[in-house]
Amino acid sequence: MAFYPLIRPLIFALDAERAHRLTIAALKLMPAMSVQQPDPKLHMRVAGVDFPNPVGLAAGFDKNADVFRPMLELGFGFAEVGTVTPLPQAGNPKPRLFRLTEDRAVINRMGFNNAGLDAAKARLTQPRRGIVGVNIGANKDSADRIGDYVAGVRAMAKLADYLTVNISSPNTPGLRDLQGKAALDELLAAVMAARGQSGPPIFLKLAPDLEPGDIDDIAAVAIRRKIDALIISNTTITRPGLRSHHCSEAGGLSGAPLKGLALERLRDFRKATGGEMPLIAAGGIENGVDAYARIKAGASLVQLYSALVYQGPELARLITGELLSLLDRDGFASLAQAVGVEAR
Ligand SMILES: Cc1cc2nc3c(=O)[nH]c(=O)nc-3n(C[C@H](O)[C@H](O)[C@H](O)COP(=O)(O)O)c2cc1C
Repeated sequence: MAFYPLIRPLIFALDAERAHRLTIAALKLMPAMSVQQPDPKLHMRVAGVDFPNPVGLAAGFDKNADVFRPMLELGFGFAEVGTVTPLPQAGNPKPRLFRLTEDRAVINRMGFNNAGLDAAKARLTQPRRGIVGVNIGANKDSADRIGDYVAGVRAMAKLADYLTVNISSPNTPGLRDLQGKAALDELLAAVMAARGQSGPPIFLKLAPDLEPGDIDDIAAVAIRRKIDALIISNTTITRPGLRSHHCSEAGGLSGAPLKGLALERLRDFRKATGGEMPLIAAGGIENGVDAYARIKAGASLVQLYSALVYQGPELARLITGELLSLLDRDGFASLAQAVGVEAR
């Protein structure tokens, strides 16, 4: 039964951040459900990790690792918690989260509000089923940002199925400068040394707002430093053709208007990495057709957040169902066969 369309007007009557807080509280109360048996056709092995299906919850929804269990039970193939910074921080002044309903989009300038590494660690030490990645970042006032990422790797290496190095949030001033060639090389060298031989795979999450030269540089550094996968992309600071009331708020834009740009960047990175590195697509994915387009363009996995706001908790199951139909329609025996077909 599709109940979300019935309660959505009530949720949308609330301020967006309050609605999110209530959603997290409700999810925490959700009784444990059995996880549906995944269809083996959707299984993906990426960087040595077995993902039961390719549809993941993007970072930012579960910043403090409170609700990965219910989200996995709702049908996500994996959940990425965070961004977690070494020390707790309050983030930017409110309001800082806006629904752009006519555009099926969101603008946020949260600024890595989170309870810090120790709090997240405590929750991640509980036994769990399913794949949970931890997205790590730097504190706004840190004097040593690279040191913050190293602290994140050390704290989470034994608890995470994978780690994401997030250098692409537009809401921490200067953070995206770490995408520059020299800074990125220094950061990734330190992160990979901290991870060592036995730690989990390291994924790197990038902004969509990059020039062609940046893309080649980033791809070359990521390959040289043996990063395990790239996540493309975070939110954009551009404002492509918006109609909604909040369209000129500062921050990162996500949801439907990011779709074209994120797909374009995915194709750029597929080309720049020559298929050598697994890619994970995020940005404006709303349905099975969107997910399938990213997979054919070279993504092994996809992630989403904003579409959940508009379509509710059934979305992961809807998308995995649609993906299975699309694979059947095109005669693929498994999802893995469809990865990158467009680029081949
Ligand atoms: C409210 C909000 C908070 C976010 N916080 C984070 C974050 O803490 N770390 C991160 O890497 N990405 C964060 N993101 C970006 C998402 O993970 C994702 O990359 C982006 O929203 C594009 O996907 P979407 O269009 O499906 O939302 C956030 C997005 C939103 C909407």
